[in-house]
Amino acid sequence: ERVSLWGGRFAGGPADALAALSLSTHFDWRLARYDLAGSRAHARVLHGAGLLTDAELTEMLAGLAALDADVASGQFGPDPADEDVHTALERGLLLQVGAELGGRLRAGRSRNDQIATLIRMYLRDEARSLAAGTLTVIAALAEQARRHHGVAMPGRTHLQHAQPVLLSHHLLAHCWALLRDVDRFRDWDGRAARSPYGAGALAGSSLGLDPQAVAAELGFDGACENSIDATASRDVVAEFAFVTAMLAVDLSRIAEEVILWSTKEFSFVSLDDAYSTGSSIMPQKKNPDVAELARGKAGRLIGDLAGLLATLKGLPLAYNRDLQEDKEPVFDAIDNLHLLLPAMAGMMRTLTFHTERLEQLAPQGFSLATDIAEWLVRRRVPFRIAHEVAGECVRVCEDRGIELDQLGDADFAAISPRLTPGVRAVLTVGGSLASRSSYGGTAPDRVAEQAGLVHEAIERA
Ligand code: ARG
Repeated sequence: ERVSLWGGRFAGGPADALAALSLSTHFDWRLARYDLAGSRAHARVLHGAGLLTDAELTEMLAGLAALDADVASGQFGPDPADEDVHTALERGLLLQVGAELGGRLRAGRSRNDQIATLIRMYLRDEARSLAAGTLTVIAALAEQARRHHGVAMPGRTHLQHAQPVLLSHHLLAHCWALLRDVDRFRDWDGRAARSPYGAGALAGSSLGLDPQAVAAELGFDGACENSIDATASRDVVAEFAFVTAMLAVDLSRIAEEVILWSTKEFSFVSLDDAYSTGSSIMPQKKNPDVAELARGKAGRLIGDLAGLLATLKGLPLAYNRDLQEDKEPVFDAIDNLHLLLPAMAGMMRTLTFHTERLEQLAPQGFSLATDIAEWLVRRRVPFRIAHEVAGECVRVCEDRGIELDQLGDADFAAISPRLTPGVRAVLTVGGSLASRSSYGGTAPDRVAEQAGLVHEAIERA
């Protein structure tokens, strides 16, 4: 028999077209067990308010537990006539405890406060699980950094050779960005931890229910302070979508580098066979599809966030049915990250770095020119002049097709009398790296210290 939550004032049932448009069980069913947890808490406050007897509460909780077991095992599921997760579970409860008792549970609550609570409960669990998944990518990067401590690579700005850096320094840079994403999930949770339950449709309840008790039972820090805000706001969902989009963008930036690094021209890395794909026509191909899908999915997650914000823009208070559209964007973001994070962790963990090539390229492209300038500055030459002199060195090298360390003592002296042979000391990658010993710099000791901080942050997370 068809169960509806709102038939009383209507002469007939909804048109098929409306029923089809309205249907949400194909996506909101994943919230079913959270709805049942909410129902158990709600039954207790109804009992506390004298609206269920002791015996009724016991029977209600037993019925909800049996339904929960059937939902968990897949025995009970939504049927095509159920409008949404709430309707389906009401039908299930009536089957368990009968219409008389089952019909008492809805007192003092609305699907508006229910759904606003469920989405928070679900997202709070997912925030923890996505943060854990992110930490596996961070651990893979940190492990590569540890394995390659001391290896130099060309550091780039504008994608041009800039200054030599340690490969571990570069990899740890990605760790910090991802650690902030983990932090964002945690920080977001502080704002998500208020329960809308008890707000009713929008105005609260006249039945003497205790929203704080429900909030505590459902693991929230407390109930929402305003019943209108509780049912109408979705900034918590939008902020979650931002955190997932930011995470996807951070993964995409790593992915873009892996794509470049694995080209013949760069030849910085080789992908493990298990994390690369072939071509159906070109037998020689080994493609970085994991990284490309990461880059592609970032676009998709940005779309999820943008779509959700567009849905919210212009909605008057309080609940509007538009708000049903809040769920699919974040579900999409979550499902895709659950696919992406293990693949990214595996790809990064199994990447082979071609360290000889990295080291060989590190000093090329005149990346030690800044070292000449700063060597002069340490000898009291104003930076403006030092910059000019070092630039002149680069020009001479470019004309002759040589690198800076191939300039002779006479060449240096001809460019500027201040360029004594001592300058050669900074014209090595090792000397350049060691000299960048400021806090957070790429000097090997500093990077070792930094790796320790990343390790501590992973342990703490
Ligand atoms: N399925 C709705 C949602 O996801 C909740 C139901 C509220 N519907 C209503 N007509 N008040 O937002």
